[in-house]
Amino acid sequence: MPLRNGRRVAVVAGCRTPFCKSGTSLKDARAVDLARFVTRELLERTSLDAAEVDAVIFGQVVPSALVPNVAREVSLLPQFPREIPAYSLNRACASSAQAVANASDEIALGDADVVLAGGVESLSDIPILASRRLADILVEASKAKTLGARFRTFSRIRPRDLVPVSPAIAEPSTGETMGQSAEKMAKQNHIARDAQDRWALRSHELAARGTDDGRLTAEIAPWFPERPAEPVLTTDNGIRRDTSLEQMAKLRPVFDRQYGSVTAANSSPLTDGASAVLVMSDEAARALGYTPLAYVRSYAVAAVDPGWQLLQAPIFAVPTALERAGIQWADLGLIEVHEAFAAQVLSNFQGWAAKGWEINPDIINVMGGSIAIGHPFGATGGRIVTTLANEMARRDVQFGLLSICAQGGMAIAVVLERR
Ligand SMILES: CC(C)(COP(=O)(O)OP(=O)(O)OC[C@H]1O[C@@H](n2cnc3c(N)ncnc32)[C@H](O)[C@@H]1OP(=O)(O)O)[C@@H](O)C(=O)NCCC(=O)NCCS
Repeated sequence: MPLRNGRRVAVVAGCRTPFCKSGTSLKDARAVDLARFVTRELLERTSLDAAEVDAVIFGQVVPSALVPNVAREVSLLPQFPREIPAYSLNRACASSAQAVANASDEIALGDADVVLAGGVESLSDIPILASRRLADILVEASKAKTLGARFRTFSRIRPRDLVPVSPAIAEPSTGETMGQSAEKMAKQNHIARDAQDRWALRSHELAARGTDDGRLTAEIAPWFPERPAEPVLTTDNGIRRDTSLEQMAKLRPVFDRQYGSVTAANSSPLTDGASAVLVMSDEAARALGYTPLAYVRSYAVAAVDPGWQLLQAPIFAVPTALERAGIQWADLGLIEVHEAFAAQVLSNFQGWAAKGWEINPDIINVMGGSIAIGHPFGATGGRIVTTLANEMARRDVQFGLLSICAQGGMAIAVVLERR
């Protein structure tokens, strides 16, 4: 086991909220509420004295304009002393995996011993922006010296200026949406609709199994809705037990309605949720009485030209992470691949298979993935780190890998080890 700077970084525990399709059960919660809730729960579950935490790092992709640094609001929970520094980061869908990676760097460098790394997204609570022209007029009006000048500025507002602008899930550089990119990858890599639907069905079946046998449920902090009449949420609400290949086959493609193959069933849904992971130096973990679930052995990020195959960077991040870990693909006992779209998962597999690597479904996404569980962008990495580390501990698997594709043509890969 290679030490970084003589230090070893332990994944001690993690948990998350239920992941809910946006606009459903978590729609009234703000992202900051979800992030604070999941952090409180993790502190409770681990009985950690919050004063032991040296830093808080949270990933978020679409932050609220009112709470731009959600991590700091987390570290201002009453449980923490006021002096714990915190920052939020955005590496798109890889954000909370990046938060764990950054935590691991701080610990390896000796700058921290205990870091709380997490992520959150509320796609029910996205910032709705004023049009640029309206914003300019409002700024100008605020600077007007007389009431008359202010009214004259306001009188320039036209109805079209009042149309709100909401953020799109599109690449700023190419204008292509994630779904269009997945569609393009399906076509270029010859990924058939049937293969995509089969992968999606598998995701639902395995996620349902992982929920029923308690493995996923154990990672979920039950959410108590504000209105007491509503049921307590203990599971993800996107997992479909009623679906079948026949039903999926009936759906019309969303992103290329005529010739496409990417549908609502073989895409991850827009989702709300939060996750948190406790990362510690091995010494601190042991001194505080914890048994680590796994250790961070290496990580790597990669990027490709967004105009190429936007979600294909995992085929570059994974080899680098394995090389840095000093292990081979064949050494891996468990693999977690983020499922933005089935077309992307199967394209990533193609890229890895081209290296002569065997794609063994028995060790991949053994409790399903983001298609069924959901994908709150900023929170997915924390979910996957937690699930991978827990399952590695359960099976006593020595090496596990996670791979997450992200907007901007990026990806992160993390290698965990048990001993
Ligand atoms: C694909 C997408 C546009 C679908 O959104 P949506 O239309 O709101 O999705 P819904 O859940 O309402 O599903 C649409 C229909 O398909 C059906 N459906 C969805 N999944 C199904 C399944 N597994 N089996 C059977 N039917 C299914 C729904 O029941 C619904 O049917 P209805 O219209 O009769 O109610 C949306 O989920 C999306 O944008 N996903 C991609 C998110 C993304 O880009 N993420 C970034 C990744 S990096």
